[in-house]
Amino acid sequence: MAQIFHRSTNTFSRVWMFGGLFLVAGGIGLLLLMSRSSYATGEGIVLQQPIPFSHDHHTAALGISCVYCHWGAEESAFAGVPPTATCMNCHNLIWNQSPMLAQVRESYRTGQRIEWQRVHDLPDYVYFNHAIHVSKGVGCESCHGRVDKMPLIMQAESLQMEWCLDCHRNPEEQVRPLSAIYAMGWKPTDPEQGARLVAEHEINSKVTCSTCHR
Ligand code: HEC
Ligand code: HEC
Ligand code: HEC
Ligand code: HEC
Ligand code: HEC
Repeated sequence: MAQIFHRSTNTFSRVWMFGGLFLVAGGIGLLLLMSRSSYATGEGIVLQQPIPFSHDHHTAALGISCVYCHWGAEESAFAGVPPTATCMNCHNLIWNQSPMLAQVRESYRTGQRIEWQRVHDLPDYVYFNHAIHVSKGVGCESCHGRVDKMPLIMQAESLQMEWCLDCHRNPEEQVRPLSAIYAMGWKPTDPEQGARLVAEHEINSKVTCSTCHR
């Protein structure tokens, strides 16, 4: 049979095929990278809030404990964001003329809640619960970082599945005494303390899918 295509077309088509494969592989690689980039995970990004509330100022400088405002964390799935009334415990007296707090006073007067932007937000198909972690000795700092050094709050970790699993596989590196849940900059007293606490708090590695996808 006569040759319809010139022999070099073979080479051409091979080049095209491989080129195509590389493009597809590259594309997938890029998508993976993008899903792990901070733009996609939200890690380290500061959102614009209606009031520039400073955690640094209220916790490190004024010494207010996390639980004063986020009391849900101990007993419920949600830590929660405090209502305006909590701010007004102090701000009806302190800085009660400050323009920076005008929106807080307005919200208190009208009963209209302040629309804080949500910083941490897991997809709906993931089950998360604060109380379980807090009662087993996982401190706020382990998941939220040095909040006491954040003028504006941001997500300190990726919140991706591997991040959760890393700690679920090796909890001894992260657990602390229950008295140190709200402490910032806590360090273990000795290298064996983690293993002792895991036994004391009866922690088992929870890595089956249904733990978090129920
Ligand atoms: C005086 C009240 C107050 C105290 C004390 C406080 N917070 Fe907050 N926190 C807030 C308010 C109000 C917001 C919502 C506004 C914002 O995101 O900036 C918030 C937001 C957060 C968020 C982000 C919530 C989201 O949308 O994902 C985290 C995490 C957090 N706080 C952790 C802590 C930790 C840890 C401590 C203790 C070191 C602490 N907070 C102490 C009032 C407080
Ligand atoms: C336990 C008392 C207390 C509570 C509760 C409290 N604040 Fe404050 N806040 C202060 C004090 C004291 C200052 C002034 C600090 C200074 O000038 O050193 C302040 C300052 C501020 C400022 C001025 C800017 C800054 O951060 O320095 C803003 C804004 C503010 N608070 C917002 C809030 C909001 C919003 C809430 C409620 C989520 C809140 N505060 C709850 C005590 C409190
Ligand atoms: C094991 C990790 C972990 C620990 C420990 C932890 N958090 Fe969270 N926190 C998260 C995750 C994940 C979210 C997002 C939850 C979601 O989107 O459903 C979150 C959300 C929040 C929010 C937003 C409101 C809400 O309830 O969803 C606040 C406020 C908060 N955490 C404060 C705290 C405080 C205060 C502590 C310490 C008492 C703490 N967290 C301990 C992982 C943790
Ligand atoms: C810094 C450590 C740490 C991180 C990070 C962490 N966890 Fe946990 N988690 C624990 C510990 C410790 C327990 C308690 C296990 C036990 O009771 O044996 C736990 C328990 C749980 C439980 C309850 C399991 C059960 O059936 O009792 C759920 C659900 C859970 N974690 C979800 C998550 C999710 C989702 C993430 C990520 C967004 C996450 N955790 C991140 C340490 C962590
Ligand atoms: C400790 C909690 C935890 C456990 C256990 C867990 N997952 Fe996840 N999973 C998550 C979180 C958190 C996300 C959301 C990640 C994100 O936002 O990108 C997720 C996301 C996913 C996704 C969406 C795609 C992706 O990778 O983002 C799939 C599929 C999934 N998990 C399957 C599984 C399977 C299968 C298992 C059991 C082998 C499992 N997960 C066990 C926490 C967990």
